[in-house]
Amino acid sequence: MKIGFVEPDLPRSGAVVVGVWEEAVLTPAARRLDEATGGAITRALSAAPRFKGKKDELLPIIAPANLSVSRIVLSGLGKSELADSRLFQGLGGNLVAHLNGAGETEATFAIDLDESASMDQAEAAAQLAFGARLRSYRFDRYKTKQKPEQKASLGRVTVATAAPAAAERAYEPLDKTAGAVFFTRDLVSEPANVIYPETLAAQAEILTEYGVDVEILDEKRMRELGMNALLGVAQGSARPPRVVVMEWHGVAAGGDDNRRSPLAFIGKGVTFDTGGISIKPAAGMADMKWDMAGSAVVIGLMRLLAARKARVNAVGVVGLVENMPSATAQRPGDIVTSMSGQTIEVLNTDAEGRLVLADALWYCQDRYKPRLMIDLATLTGAVVVALGHHRAGLFSNNDEIAERLIEAGKAVGEEVWRLPLSESYDREIDSDAADVKNIGSGRAGGSILGAQFLQRFVNDVPWAHLDIAGMAWSTKDSATVPKGATAFGVQLLDRFVAKYYETV
Ligand code: BES
Ligand code: MN
Ligand code: ZN
Repeated sequence: MKIGFVEPDLPRSGAVVVGVWEEAVLTPAARRLDEATGGAITRALSAAPRFKGKKDELLPIIAPANLSVSRIVLSGLGKSELADSRLFQGLGGNLVAHLNGAGETEATFAIDLDESASMDQAEAAAQLAFGARLRSYRFDRYKTKQKPEQKASLGRVTVATAAPAAAERAYEPLDKTAGAVFFTRDLVSEPANVIYPETLAAQAEILTEYGVDVEILDEKRMRELGMNALLGVAQGSARPPRVVVMEWHGVAAGGDDNRRSPLAFIGKGVTFDTGGISIKPAAGMADMKWDMAGSAVVIGLMRLLAARKARVNAVGVVGLVENMPSATAQRPGDIVTSMSGQTIEVLNTDAEGRLVLADALWYCQDRYKPRLMIDLATLTGAVVVALGHHRAGLFSNNDEIAERLIEAGKAVGEEVWRLPLSESYDREIDSDAADVKNIGSGRAGGSILGAQFLQRFVNDVPWAHLDIAGMAWSTKDSATVPKGATAFGVQLLDRFVAKYYETV
């Protein structure tokens, strides 16, 4: 879907969308269109008294006789004092879904603001376009028999704004964000026979085109490093594991150390999670192709930081494995020595993500001495029980990082909710036979015990863990996220970096 920005002018074809504030107050473009159509809009409003201009309300008006456009759509904007970036993104997204449903091929969004509005015109226009773009995402590479009506019809969206040049500039970084989000969604959507450790590593390698340094650790190197926790998960699979290390250097050498030491992002990349010998039930197992979402978010984030030349040093580390049952698979009760030297009793081979992250986190802090580490993982089903599909679980040993993540999540609409860590939980993963065991004794506090396990491998580095098991994919469309892979975390962490670590 193509996006463009133009000066306000009456479009000659396609759909034209204008905004209506709550209590049926027309925006300037809506007033102009009302005049040009001899009052078609005011007539439609009085014929449809239930349309109040509330947020998310749409009122389609079919082709007024004196204009060549195909239809006019009145778009409810809600209360003007509540207008913000997210409102315009949501509108853009909802409109794309509506117009695709109607089979429209092109549209002009003429949703402008009054002089008095608190939001910048250009910013509003750019956010409208961004929302439209995000919702236009489709993963239909494997559909060979789509009928025309099953395909997206909307090929072009033009945003009419008083400040098209400024809107274009404001849209530029958002276009890069959408590119990274789509890249992550694609990686997560691909099935596990296509995306497995080696092919996912090859996808990460493409980031060199953006100026990211990419290094791939193979099995031999991992063995030398002592990454036996990760290797134990991988040993049941015919697919060899990989660790990918991505470095973005956005701060020149010299200057103060604090700005030079990198922000680190670590991702769980289990390209398929059968559970291993502690095998999962058949029903729903196909969902476990998404178990590499944490790594795909880290890869997408690194691409975005590089694409927009973020003034920060960042490193991404992803641990890529396939968790399979086989004659060579790890057994429940096996004890492995992790890279940290700590021994782990693997009581359940389905609690594999934490084993992969244990070595990835340790490696990262050991090699980079990062300023902070944030890991993302589809770690526990328990976090879905606790928070559903509305918020990711957040765990942190640092209040400042936690607060910044909460703020960034609200700003971009990728919300996180903090859950506790404490010594009393930590004691529950003490093992009788080794230093630590990979599950607790029952189901209680499952997500917290997963986080406590990870904390044993962070070595006092300021750290946060995002359990995205409930957020990585969605079974329902939302305004800017069609159902399927969400790329939850890319925008959140991009905002976190931009707002708190790129100033100066
Ligand atoms: N990948 C799963 C977690 C998961 C479950 C993600 C459902 C998304 C939806 C993880 O590896 C896992 O199997 N966790 C176990 C942990 C348990 C054995 C302690 C779980 O949640 O059941
Ligand atoms: Mn598992
Ligand atoms: Zn898993």
